[in-house]
Parts: sequence; C-alpha cells; structure tokens
Amino acid sequence: MTTRRSPAAVEPDDRLLQDLVLGHWKLPALAAAYRIGLLARLADEPLTRAEVAVACGSEPLATGSVLELLASLHLLERWGDRYEVTAVTRRYLLPGAADDWGPMLRLVWDDRCAAVRDALLGEAPRGYGSRSLWRVHQEVPRQAEIFTHAMHAHSAAAATAFAERAAALGVPARAHVLDVAGGRGTYAIALARRYPELTATVLELDSVCPIASRAVGEAGLDGRIRVVGGDMFTTSWPSADVVLLADVMHNWPVGQCRTLADHAREALQPGGRLLVHDMLLDDAVPGPVTAAANAVAMAATTGGHQFTATELAALLRQAGFTSVSSTPSFGYFSVTTARAAGSEGAS
Ligand SMILES: C[S@@+](CC[C@H](N)C(=O)[O-])C[C@H]1O[C@@H](n2cnc3c(N)ncnc32)[C@H](O)[C@@H]1O
Repeated sequence: MTTRRSPAAVEPDDRLLQDLVLGHWKLPALAAAYRIGLLARLADEPLTRAEVAVACGSEPLATGSVLELLASLHLLERWGDRYEVTAVTRRYLLPGAADDWGPMLRLVWDDRCAAVRDALLGEAPRGYGSRSLWRVHQEVPRQAEIFTHAMHAHSAAAATAFAERAAALGVPARAHVLDVAGGRGTYAIALARRYPELTATVLELDSVCPIASRAVGEAGLDGRIRVVGGDMFTTSWPSADVVLLADVMHNWPVGQCRTLADHAREALQPGGRLLVHDMLLDDAVPGPVTAAANAVAMAATTGGHQFTATELAALLRQAGFTSVSSTPSFGYFSVTTARAAGSEGAS
C-alpha cells in the first residue's frame, strides 16, 4: 500500500524550474561547439579557454561560458585551466568518429543553436531575432511587459529569501536602497514589505517604469518606493545607503560591469553597501550546470556571462570596494556583499 507523503515542512526553492528553463541552452551549446569545430580542436591536446578562442577564432567570454557548460555536463573535463575531451566526447562527438552524433546535432539545429554559434563567432547577441533585448523593450511596450513579468517569476522567490536575510547582510532597517535595473520592483517591494521603515528607488529603462510603478502601487508602497527612468550607464545614480544589483551583472560584458560597479561606488558614501544577487559559477569545479547554462544564455542573448565569486570580487575591489564576500542565498543564487571604501581604502 502506498501512503501519501506529508507536505514538506520547508518551502521548496525554485531550482527545478530554473533547471527546466535555463537547461534549454545545454543542447544549443553542444551543437554550436561541434559546428565551429571547438570539440575537434580539443581532441589532440588540452587547451585553455584563451587557446581555444585563438584556435577557433571565437570570442573569449562566450567561449569560456560554452567550455564551462560542456565541462559541467561531463562532455569535457577541466584540469586547472585546461579543457580536454572526455571518453564520451571522443567516441560520439568528434567529426569522422565511427559513432559520430554530428548528423543528430544537425537535425536538432534551431534558432538557439544559431544564437550560440553567433555568440561564439563574436556576432552581436540576439535578443529577439537579430535585435537587442533592451532596444526592443524601449520600442515595443508589450514585449517589455512580457519580459518584465517573466523576470519577476524568475526572481520573486529569490527576492523574498534575500529580503529575509538582508539585515544580516548589513542592510540597515531604515536604509534607502537603490535597486538598479530593478525590473518591476521585485526586490524593492520584497525589502519594503520585510522592513517597514526601509525606502527604495527603482532605476529602470523608461519603458519598464510604468510596469514597476503599477506593481509598487498594487503593493501599497507608493509612499516608500520611487521609480525613476533612465539609462544606468549614462544617467547619474541617486545616492543611497545600499545599492542592489540583482540579476544585472550577468547581462553585460565585463567592461560594462566595471562601469556599473564604478557608478555604485559613486552613489554610496564610504562604508555604504553594495549587494549583488546573481547565480555564480563555482570557482573550483565546473557548474552548477544550470548556472553554466545561464552563462551561455547570456552569451547568446545579451553578451554577458556568469561570474565566479573570485572574478566578481576582483572586479569589485578594482572599483573601490572592500570586505567583498559571497555566500549562497537561495536556490542557485548567491549574494555578494561589498563595502564602499573611503578614499584611503580603494585598491
Ligand atoms: C534580468 S532583468 C533583472 C530585473 C530585476 N533586477 C530582477 O532581478 O528581477 C535586467 C533588467 O535590466 C534592465 N535594463 C537593461 N538595460 C538597462 C539600462 N541601460 N538602464 C537601466 N535598466 C536597464 C532591464 O529593463 C531589465 O529589467
């Protein structure tokens, strides 16, 4: 006889859904790597990501993301900073091998595979067809709406968990938080609900502001959360006690992430906090698979990648932050906290 299991005592996280949605990028990464000859290049000797990029004429950041995803899937093996083919890849994924799966990868080829191939070849990322995600959102309000609600689904549970531990992360109960590229205000609303004296500003693209304003109004938080339109790269950021970059750094090439970190430093007084909430890649072993798949998704759609904690800490320190540390927070997410250095503390 089977008995019904009692409901779980602990709320489930959303990893199962992140696996399904982001896992979509596993096959395109493999098919694109096969097609540009990346796997064949690794057949003779282990290579670093930089060597692979030179050998394949591919873009280094996207190349690194694809290599990490294939390594997390055990189709490659990483030793230190070198990648080599596994026995499975040698037998089934090398052109000309007796049991070559190349024809199958050709059969399943689709737009996502083409987007990853183009990212590897250094072409502009494909948001919608060949057009930039953010530009389309500025021009087509309905598309901005669909995307922003999808991001809310992706972030809502993580934001609630984040808000729950914000005090422990150094967010003062009466802080003013600047939620940069805050979408429909998912994190600002979660924080304001959790801390009754906290206030926030959401900085977003003009096309997204009405969506955020509506969500803030529906949450009854009009008096505490302000929504401000502007381009985060070109407008000056309002000053704040805490700057939050949630699911933002992974959207941009490293140089633009550094610009965001510089703006955050300027918006904070010495001692102010920067919090980065994102999926991080493991520093030691390839993966987690879903975070690595997200990196490939970013390469294909926005030109970004997922950081490791070490890479992110280095970038933040260069921008004048100290006391940088990362810790797992919810599902695949980690929170990275950093303190704005005084003029003497920047390194
Ligand atoms: C992946 S979503 C993250 C949204 C939200 N922070 C969250 O975690 O759900 C990235 C956001 O960046 C915004 N964005 C893109 N380019 C921007 C820019 N130049 N200035 C301000 N916001 C921008 C987009 O509109 C989008 O809402």
